[in-house]
Amino acid sequence: MVSKEQLDLKRLPKHVAIIMDGNGRWAKKKGNPRIYGHSNGVAAVRDTVEAAAEIGINFLTLYAFSTENWNRPRTEIDALMSLLVSTINKETKTLLENNVRLQAIGDIGSLPNSVAKQLKGAIEKTKRKTGLNLILALSYSSRWEMLNAARNLAEDVQQGKIDSEDIDSTVFESYLNTSGIPDPELLIRTSGEFRISNFLLWQIAYTELYFTPTLWPDFRREDFYMAIANFQSRERRFGKISEQIVENININS
Ligand code: FPP
Repeated sequence: MVSKEQLDLKRLPKHVAIIMDGNGRWAKKKGNPRIYGHSNGVAAVRDTVEAAAEIGINFLTLYAFSTENWNRPRTEIDALMSLLVSTINKETKTLLENNVRLQAIGDIGSLPNSVAKQLKGAIEKTKRKTGLNLILALSYSSRWEMLNAARNLAEDVQQGKIDSEDIDSTVFESYLNTSGIPDPELLIRTSGEFRISNFLLWQIAYTELYFTPTLWPDFRREDFYMAIANFQSRERRFGKISEQIVENININS
């Protein structure tokens, strides 16, 4: 087990993204319906958000509902949507007390009115908070996001607002849902699956990936600290060689 004290708080990833996976399997193992896993996943969300805020992570993005999740049985979708409404409703006060700012990425317009309303209300109420930025990916998929960006960019070129020659990474990024949010430095996926599942594909070009067999409802702050400790033990080269990284550290320190 890794405790908070074992982390180097000066070398934290600015942005951690999490693919919360394994709720259904967790419930099945206990002989319960899948939604039981989702409800228990809320405790893992709470503990992780608290831990991230406490140690000083700037951005935490949680993949809560993908574009592909709309293909699940209607009863599961409805149950997940009401869970989202009740969780946001219950937790907004705690977010405010902990200086957390809520944001969302994804096709928010495709969510049921009740979810969109609750979400927008919580985003508005927390918008002046300056601590952790908690970003919920809802009805999100990376391909959807990139296609949307390409469409909007094409329209702006057509209307003469931008010259196609001027399109570079910075311009393209400004058309993504995550505009203004730094790329994640660490991506965690629970439940022992080794996939990215259409999540932040542009943004994770240089992200460190961490996979754990823990099912999401069992994930707690110690698991989060363990992922961060693992991140801190890695050397991030960004295409350079090891000696150049050491040189840079020496120059900058
Ligand atoms: C993946 O497990 C989990 C989800 C699709 C939903 C995650 C939602 C929550 C944890 C509930 C509330 C969240 C917030 C942010 C308030 P799965 O169903 O794919 O599990 P399986 O792979 O075992 O079937």
